Amino acid sequence: SLPNKVTIIEVGPRDGLQNEKNEVPTEIKLAFIEQLQQAGIEEMELSSFVSPKWVPQMKDSKEIVTKVKKVGRQFVLTPNKKGVELAMENGATSFAIFVGVSDSFNQKNINKTTRESMDELKPIVEKLMEDGHFVRACISTAFYCPFEGAVDPQKTIDLCKEFVSWGVNELSVADTIGMANPKESYNLFHAIKNEFTNTLITAHFHDTRKMGNANIFAALQAGISRFDTSAGGLGGCPFAPGATGNVATEDVVNMLHKMDISTNINMDELLKAVNIVAPYVSRPIETGMYRLYKSK
Ligand code: HMG
Ligand code: MG
Repeated sequence: SLPNKVTIIEVGPRDGLQNEKNEVPTEIKLAFIEQLQQAGIEEMELSSFVSPKWVPQMKDSKEIVTKVKKVGRQFVLTPNKKGVELAMENGATSFAIFVGVSDSFNQKNINKTTRESMDELKPIVEKLMEDGHFVRACISTAFYCPFEGAVDPQKTIDLCKEFVSWGVNELSVADTIGMANPKESYNLFHAIKNEFTNTLITAHFHDTRKMGNANIFAALQAGISRFDTSAGGLGGCPFAPGATGNVATEDVVNMLHKMDISTNINMDELLKAVNIVAPYVSRPIETGMYRLYKSK
């Protein structure tokens, strides 16, 4: 049976903008985030504490994190000890770490093998947990890798198992290049949901092949009620060739509301948030709900 309520984790300010060609001014990012909060977003990825040489779009993370209103759960992405330390100095309390199931992708993304990343992160995460912080583990290339092709679901589950053994609060399982289909979404999320009963499970879909909402419907049927989505459907990982944006928050929320599943998000206010960032990004925003909004 389907849930009555779904939690949306808005990743637009982070995943949405990390791959953007234009330099989006910090004030615009702050206005975008504030309007997303106004729309009722309770959990959000604000920015990343990563190397500014690797991801220049996230170089204002310090200013973003210190200036936004502290509402709900606000994540920052941290790839290593340096990232966690910088995030902490700036008051972050919810951390998103990220590792790829596939070695080739992890190498391209964080310059380490999956094993090296896990060994480096373990003591860092255990300390964060000990200090009472919230940690989400993002599992990239959970279905397909841009370099290695199909990923064995058992490898994804094994990586999840290792994160769960560290005590992380949440697993965000990602279709990084938007290649999964609803059957694969159902099967993997069904297996994960049954295996890890004390950990929050979240699905993160990119919409490269326009199967994002179908994959969400399949994951809902597998018992998932948390989804990472991006306002305006912006996004993509700069180190995952061929990937496009995340499934769009407004189109997911619309589908859910029409199915009588509540999200606590106000559509008009959400579309205003999309409208704030739209003039500053290099690609046209062509999501279903935003097109309707613009044509009114
Ligand atoms: P490296 O070059 O191997 O690292 O990069 P290093 O330790 O040799 O450091 C190189 C330089 O970066 C040094 O500065 C460090 O101080 C600095 P320099 O001496 O050259 O001036 N540095 C840092 N600066 C700020 N914050 C830090 C940090 N760490 C080192 N945390 C590194 C390794 C991990 C840093 C690099 O590969 C990196 O930043 N990668 C980030 C990649 C990224 O952000 N990818 C996108 C997010 S993941 C994603 O989108 C997927 C997801 O959405 C789920 C899905 O869809 O799959 C989550
Ligand atoms: Mg992503």
